[in-house]
Amino acid sequence: MAAAGSDPWRVGFVGAGRMAEAIAQGLIRAGKVEAQHVLASAPTDRNLCHFRALGCKTTHSNQEVLQTCSLVFFATKPHILPAVLAEVAPVVTSEHILVSVAAGVSLSTLEELLPPTARVLRVSPNLPCVVHEGAMVIARGRHAGSSEAEFLQTLLEACGQCEEVPEAQVDIHTGLSGSGVAFVCTFSEALAEGAIKMGMPSGLAHRIAAQTLLGTAKMLLQKGQHPAQLRTDVCTPSGTTIYGLHALEQGGLRAATMSAVEAATCRAKELSRK
Ligand SMILES: NC(=O)c1ccc[n+]([C@@H]2O[C@H](COP(=O)([O-])OP(=O)(O)OC[C@H]3O[C@@H](n4cnc5c(N)ncnc54)[C@H](OP(=O)(O)O)[C@@H]3O)[C@@H](O)[C@H]2O)c1
Repeated sequence: MAAAGSDPWRVGFVGAGRMAEAIAQGLIRAGKVEAQHVLASAPTDRNLCHFRALGCKTTHSNQEVLQTCSLVFFATKPHILPAVLAEVAPVVTSEHILVSVAAGVSLSTLEELLPPTARVLRVSPNLPCVVHEGAMVIARGRHAGSSEAEFLQTLLEACGQCEEVPEAQVDIHTGLSGSGVAFVCTFSEALAEGAIKMGMPSGLAHRIAAQTLLGTAKMLLQKGQHPAQLRTDVCTPSGTTIYGLHALEQGGLRAATMSAVEAATCRAKELSRK
């Protein structure tokens, strides 16, 4: 990836934890940026050593990241971010594209803490970014145009699916996809435990449950089908699946799942207001 001039793009990470590493790894493996052009900062070497292992440069100075890189991801915990932004604000220029991954920190808060014309975007990632199967959304601030959004989207597709949404949908994404990883794990666990109850060995049951989720997800995405269609295709009259589905509906799975997404979204909105 090269910038408009002859200098290569340099990608910075302020905060070098799990999410920063997942994004950096995705970008490097997809060839979107060379490892030597990535600079990450954090107060300790605890996580920076993982960046060095990837071939990236590291520093303990957040300002150095801004002074070196034109695209910078802010990947600290949300409560730390305001102090970090205040620290780097004096070295932010109109050349920077600044991307926050912090859950619950609004674009208006980010813009208040940065110089008035700073180009700011938010990304809401989820943990499967670690295996390049993330489901991400991005939202852009007042001074980030469609070209910055498209640029970021193209980069982040190295870590999974990435779509632009209005900021109001970011908290819903957190409920659906950020927290959704835990909901899906609960379902996978329950699916496997049903098989264990019926006599299947535990390891095999968990592997098959996870693969069933993966295969079903691939079919839904590749065929662009509505889940109800695929579900109908699996049901034969008076067959095993319709008996199982009846039991699921009696157990209230659908209502419980909808409530889980609603509860997680409401909590994300509540945290955003703090
Ligand atoms: N994990 C997820 O599934 C997920 C999903 C959606 C959004 N997010 C968002 O992603 C962000 C990062 O989450 P994470 O799970 O990657 O967190 P994490 O693993 O705890 O990493 C946080 C990083 O921030 C660094 N840090 C702490 N204080 C700093 C400072 N003053 N200046 C610069 N860096 C500082 C830490 O330094 P040390 O290495 O020295 O400890 C660490 O490298 C959060 O805002 C979270 O809301 C995460």
